[in-house]
Amino acid sequence: MTILVTGGAGFIGSNFVIDWLGAEREPVVNLDKLTYAGNLSNLDAVADDAGHRFVQGDIGDAALLERIFSEHHPRAVVHFAAESHVDRSIHGPAPFVDTNVVGTLRLLEAARGAWTRLEGGAREAFRFLHVSTDEVYGTLGPRDPAFTEQTPYAPNSPYAASKASSDHLVRAYHHTYGLPTLTTNCSNNYGPLQFPEKLIPLVIANAVEGKPIPVYGDGQQVRDWLYVNDHCDAIRQVLARGRVGETYNIGGNAERANLDVVNTICDALQGARPRPGGYRELIRFVADRPGHDRRYAMDIRKIQGELGWAPRESFESGLARTVAWYLDNQDWVARVKSGEYRNWIETNYGKRSTA
Ligand code: NAD
Ligand code: DAU
Repeated sequence: MTILVTGGAGFIGSNFVIDWLGAEREPVVNLDKLTYAGNLSNLDAVADDAGHRFVQGDIGDAALLERIFSEHHPRAVVHFAAESHVDRSIHGPAPFVDTNVVGTLRLLEAARGAWTRLEGGAREAFRFLHVSTDEVYGTLGPRDPAFTEQTPYAPNSPYAASKASSDHLVRAYHHTYGLPTLTTNCSNNYGPLQFPEKLIPLVIANAVEGKPIPVYGDGQQVRDWLYVNDHCDAIRQVLARGRVGETYNIGGNAERANLDVVNTICDALQGARPRPGGYRELIRFVADRPGHDRRYAMDIRKIQGELGWAPRESFESGLARTVAWYLDNQDWVARVKSGEYRNWIETNYGKRSTA
């Protein structure tokens, strides 16, 4: 038995592959294009594991997908590969449509072809698990109830729109062709191996270097933070026992305003590596993200009730582990900050003058 993971050299995908090989001992074929966000050194922990087979390639490459399915006969697909950064989607939406929409379509087609050729128990057991986001539901006011699986889709950024499109394709492949799909919509992940373009690793990386810490707008936007290993565990549960054709919300029960997150990181760093004047003095309020969603929150009663999953990590314990990991892995941070990373920082922050 084998599973096919896409995007397994990115942040969540690499954590999932490491977690999967440790917990399940079932081989993984890991298909990843190695964009700026994919990094083979994320997989160092499984470099000597014979159960891990890495293939560099694009989920949009139909011929490659055909080869992978006929050579490895995966019993399931866990689909992480995506362009994932909201700010990048604002600067350039096209790659988001190429990978998140068209790439997902190609992957669904390849999976449908392989599934159609299966018979009996193997056909029954096949699964296509699509990893999506809470951003497809749009934005919440301060007192609105959290998003449920019934919340209507209202994506606000090009990234969210591309993920919503891919969710609809997955739904349609189940409804029209009977492909045994599962969709998970999760909140903001954090933890080891996250590329330092996202809020938490960017704040840690800048603070350690004594650089300004950019906070968009008033910093009162709220996200629901989910420790990445809790997310990996939830995906394993949904893959094993989720009801076919269903979607499951996954969240961390940890709503925090961005400024509180940034202050907590600054204080944790001050404890671990004291800086004269402290880290909070590096905080700069900069121009807001266009169309910035104010608040996300996830109602996770469905996955809790049906599958008995709940996040184990509190935000405080998860953040402490995350800060410690980044301090211990400064060489990783230095390695992933390629020339492309410096171009991105200039594109996104160069013109974002202090608000
Ligand atoms: P990431 O940007 O860290 O990694 C994405 C990976 O996909 C990279 O390794 C990249 O090389 C690969 N990839 C990109 N385009 C590809 C293509 N065309 N073919 C093959 N591989 C390709 O992303 P992440 O944060 O790990 O997110 C993984 C998934 O989870 C995404 O689908 C994202 O939408 C979803 N998600 C992420 C979060 C979060 O907080 N990070 C929250 C909710 C949902
Ligand atoms: O909600 C799930 C989503 O979470 C995922 O689907 C996306 O793939 C993932 O990138 C993430 O999107 P966000 O836009 O919420 O994450 P990001 O880390 O980019 O930003 C978190 C919050 O912090 C957001 O309100 C914007 C703010 N921010 C971000 C950066 C990079 C800042 O204030 N300053 C910054 O420099």
